[in-house]
Amino acid sequence: MDARKNVSPEFVLGEGALALVGRYAANLGANKVLLVTDPGVMRAGWSEKVVAALARLAIQTHIFSDISPNPRDTEIMHGASVYLEEQCDVIVALGGGSPMDCAKGIGIVASNNRHILEFEGVDKVPIPGPPLICIPTTAGSSADVSQFAIINDTARKLKIAIVSKAAIPDVALIDPAVTMSMPNALTAATGMDALVHAIEAYVSLAGSPITDLNALEAIRLVATNLQSAIEHPEDLRYRDQMMLGSLLAGLAFSNASLGLVHAMAHALGGLMDLPHGECNALLLPHVVNFNFNAVPERYQRIGEAFGLPLSGLTHAEIRLRLVSAIQTFRQAVGLTRVLQDYGVTREDIQVLARYAFNDPCLATNPIQPTVGDIERIYEQALAA
Ligand SMILES: [Fe+2]
Repeated sequence: MDARKNVSPEFVLGEGALALVGRYAANLGANKVLLVTDPGVMRAGWSEKVVAALARLAIQTHIFSDISPNPRDTEIMHGASVYLEEQCDVIVALGGGSPMDCAKGIGIVASNNRHILEFEGVDKVPIPGPPLICIPTTAGSSADVSQFAIINDTARKLKIAIVSKAAIPDVALIDPAVTMSMPNALTAATGMDALVHAIEAYVSLAGSPITDLNALEAIRLVATNLQSAIEHPEDLRYRDQMMLGSLLAGLAFSNASLGLVHAMAHALGGLMDLPHGECNALLLPHVVNFNFNAVPERYQRIGEAFGLPLSGLTHAEIRLRLVSAIQTFRQAVGLTRVLQDYGVTREDIQVLARYAFNDPCLATNPIQPTVGDIERIYEQALAA
């Protein structure tokens, strides 16, 4: 067995985890917390609960919510100056992937006093940020357990990845009840992001027996619970299972990295500011079709975890079944748009493919595509 390192933060999973934020912040020595969140999460009322839990332990809060869905370098630099001006000493991130990635960036900038884009790459953060507590409000991004922060470089119009131990939160408080306030479209998009994390981790060149276990179980959990979570949004049982699936997918991809779906989705997010989960969902079947022959046995186990009866079928048959099952699943959870519906045209494909080709996620894809291969996959995804 190849030697593989696995990292994860301390995490609390289950109902009531959010209410522990005061105690955890106090243990980390907090006097004043910078609460990084977004307007949607604030409207759902979760930020008030966090502020109240901190106030009970005499901890002050300053709220920073100036964040776009694809968090920008400029927003992080602004957040870091707010953190320093307000003399905060702990950061709490409350939200989906965007506030959490933004909070990671703010902490890194605040302690290193350099521009966020200087930390692009693997292990480029010399000084760890201040203590960071993450409270996810979606079941999908898993930024609360990952060592990744994905930031939009607004000048170059591309997403950069910061991969570092400094991007791992000190604590993740993972409370499935918090995800009940998500609208269905967000439940679907973030759930599909979790599914893509698990599938890409399972076929990654950097996978290991531990990431495999987490990834396969995550695929099973998302496949069996995402539709029910959408049909019964107030039923905590499905939210529990989706949160568990998202967590396991996060532990898998944080340690095994990702692949071509994320490389292509990052290009769409960076250049055209398109939503991450929806891009992943629509690219997934096309990339599975492209990657399949590199690791057919792995895709067979993915299909089985997905609930497909595949015994006795040839690889070619399994490939067809799996690709069409993923398409059907995506549409069943209400994600029916194709790339051209987002305004992407044939003229955009060349530059998108070049950006995706240079994305670090490609390094662990089970087969190395050419720029031409990536162009063809974008083209397929334009209308299907
Ligand atoms: Fe993702």
